[in-house]
Amino acid sequence: MSAEKSVTGEKTEKGFVAKALRWMIDNKPDLLFAIIRNTRPNLVMPGDGPVFITRFRDVQEALQRPEIFNVPYGPMMDPSVGPFMLSRDDTVLNQRDKGIMLSLIQRKDMQDVRKIVARLTEEAVAPQLDKREIDVVATISRNVPMRLTGEYFGFPGPDLETMLRWSKATQLDMFHNGDRDPDIHQANIEAGAEMKQYLADWIPQCRDRLHANPDGDDILCRLLKSNFPDEIEFDEQRIATNIMGTLVGGGETTSQALVQILEQLFKRPEHLEGAIAAAKADDDDLLYRYCWEALRFDPINPFVVRNCVQDYKIASGTFRRAKIKAGKTVLVSTRSAMRDSRELPAAGDFCIDRPAYHYMHMGYGMHTCLGDQVSRVQLPEITKRLLKLPGIRLVRGIDPKDKPFPESFIIGFDIPPS
Ligand code: HEM
Repeated sequence: MSAEKSVTGEKTEKGFVAKALRWMIDNKPDLLFAIIRNTRPNLVMPGDGPVFITRFRDVQEALQRPEIFNVPYGPMMDPSVGPFMLSRDDTVLNQRDKGIMLSLIQRKDMQDVRKIVARLTEEAVAPQLDKREIDVVATISRNVPMRLTGEYFGFPGPDLETMLRWSKATQLDMFHNGDRDPDIHQANIEAGAEMKQYLADWIPQCRDRLHANPDGDDILCRLLKSNFPDEIEFDEQRIATNIMGTLVGGGETTSQALVQILEQLFKRPEHLEGAIAAAKADDDDLLYRYCWEALRFDPINPFVVRNCVQDYKIASGTFRRAKIKAGKTVLVSTRSAMRDSRELPAAGDFCIDRPAYHYMHMGYGMHTCLGDQVSRVQLPEITKRLLKLPGIRLVRGIDPKDKPFPESFIIGFDIPPS
């Protein structure tokens, strides 16, 4: 994205086309992507309009070429959290920081993550039981991930309200400010400055606590216990940026995914029944399958955005090949890829036996989500706790006016037997 144009190229003389495209992306994304996928799957719009990449194989190809298709997030991330793995492609910074973080977020932790999420969800639900209704967004989908950021990643922040403000301000600018609204950008910069200030006190406190008691074992503690040689330049600033990244990455994304999963299940009573049965049987793997499949019908993003930095021919050697010129904005549609019937059998049907690689909710390739494993546990576990509520029903779903994040999602239930 350049500073002058939005992802759909709104400022061109063909602005009406851009507006129509944007309307379709916001309101009928699956229809738009189906048309593109089945006619011109790698659609290069003229002028400063974008390129759409819509088929499963081509989306994989684009996201495996970080040297050609660069992430566009630097201008929003750098002034806020500083240089970050998601704002750099194929660099020392990206390789080193992601490598270190991945080595510390261990798969064996996931049992504990599940227990923490279960407890946090129960604690959030308990005070609401008498009311027979819960606003999932106000009480659970935002609060639980933020509190997990405190307990597992080691970044509790001064209070929940501030954490939620930081989470929203950073997410809005970094991923949803295609029009470059200066107020949204400023709020992100201020959130970054506040987080840095908080961590400038918090990190030395954690270090002191570790000296007194080396048992601390959250991700920040593990970073502080590690000895990184000066030569690799992974200093305290890097630690702070990566810890901030866990808040930026894991807050609104999880909240949005959770309510969109629930909404899709409520739209399909027979599958809701199956998911409730899986919840009651504590079948965590099956519930994960229900969640990931439900999210396929309304993923949190229509695409991930990339800047093409070298002329490139996508799908070379096929009839759908297309030349993409350096300077083009490229909309790599993971949403469309997950509906591509050339790769996914019965792509329009709700199927819980799809292989994991069919899902691109957490991105693909070099920038695949750092919180992938955590999310595979967190989302199904919260969903499970909610589906276990007796007589669970939808009272009010997502308000379509709430863009980009759902602000309310109300479920009802019967009072559980004491
Ligand atoms: C349901 C929840 C989540 C969803 C849907 C999600 C989605 C994504 C996606 C699609 C990307 C790739 C973006 C791109 O390629 O442009 C990504 C990257 C990332 N996510 Fe998540 N995420 C979630 C939760 C989390 C959590 C809990 C964390 C906490 C660690 C996190 C941290 C990150 C980081 C640091 C990256 C950048 C990875 C890199 O550049 O290599 N995310 N996420």
